[in-house]
Amino acid sequence: MTTDNYPLDPSRIPSHIAIIMDGNGRWARSCGRERTEGHVAGVNTVRRITESASRLGVKYLTLYAFSTENWGRPRAEVDALMHLISMAIERETPDLIRNNVRLGLIGDMQRVPDDVRRRLEKCVADTSSSTGLNLILAISYSSRVEITAACRRLAALAAAGRIDPSAIGEDDISANLMTAGIPDPDLLIRTGGDSRLSNFLLWQAAYTEIVIEHAFWPDFDEALFVKAIADYQRRERRYGLTSEQVSDSSEPSGT
Ligand code: IPE
Ligand code: IPE
Ligand code: MG
Repeated sequence: MTTDNYPLDPSRIPSHIAIIMDGNGRWARSCGRERTEGHVAGVNTVRRITESASRLGVKYLTLYAFSTENWGRPRAEVDALMHLISMAIERETPDLIRNNVRLGLIGDMQRVPDDVRRRLEKCVADTSSSTGLNLILAISYSSRVEITAACRRLAALAAAGRIDPSAIGEDDISANLMTAGIPDPDLLIRTGGDSRLSNFLLWQAAYTEIVIEHAFWPDFDEALFVKAIADYQRRERRYGLTSEQVSDSSEPSGT
């Protein structure tokens, strides 16, 4: 493993890593190719990083593959991306099963073309008994849509008299998001150099450590992944407390 320059503390591997896989288009342009060729190259990185995450003992890896806003891209690019997702899932399912990886999905699957959705759902079913890495693909995902849906569901329950509005807590919001049951990300990596969340896990990333990596997604590799984790391990997660308080205890004492 390429950890020589960045020794990792095996006891502090982030349990949940989320990645905004950005820069495929710019990578392609930088070598005079079509944007879609950047997406093809990006699929190889997904495979590499999934394998690295498994090997390192990461429990959850959430990859932002396609946002709700990405539906607004040129039709040919959207079609190419959907086709690519479908092909990659079909090709990789046997290896996911062999590597004990369990696939999960977040996003509005109703907008995903039927054949692609069926293939994704088949992979979820085929890998459902895996007990290793949880690989969660965010496809047609919008954090604001997700939070809005949670509010709507809770409002309907309140209107029906089934819950008391004054008793709604943060846990109720979390439990009504598509990430229900998944711990919040410890580390969020964005490739491609931009410092923004682009509507990804806005609620869940409240105290996530963020690493911006300048490399474009097709150039992201295990060495850069390990470097980002090493950066995370050097951080002090204070959760609003003072440094002295957190060095006494590794957990926040309350809000
Ligand atoms: C990320 O790469 C992949 C998707 C958003 C689907 P981009 O396609 O956004 O690449 P850039 O940001 O234009 O370089
Ligand atoms: C974020 O990338 C979405 C994904 C990586 C799937 P974008 O390229 O869509 O984000 P913006 O437009 O730069 O904010
Ligand atoms: Mg982009």
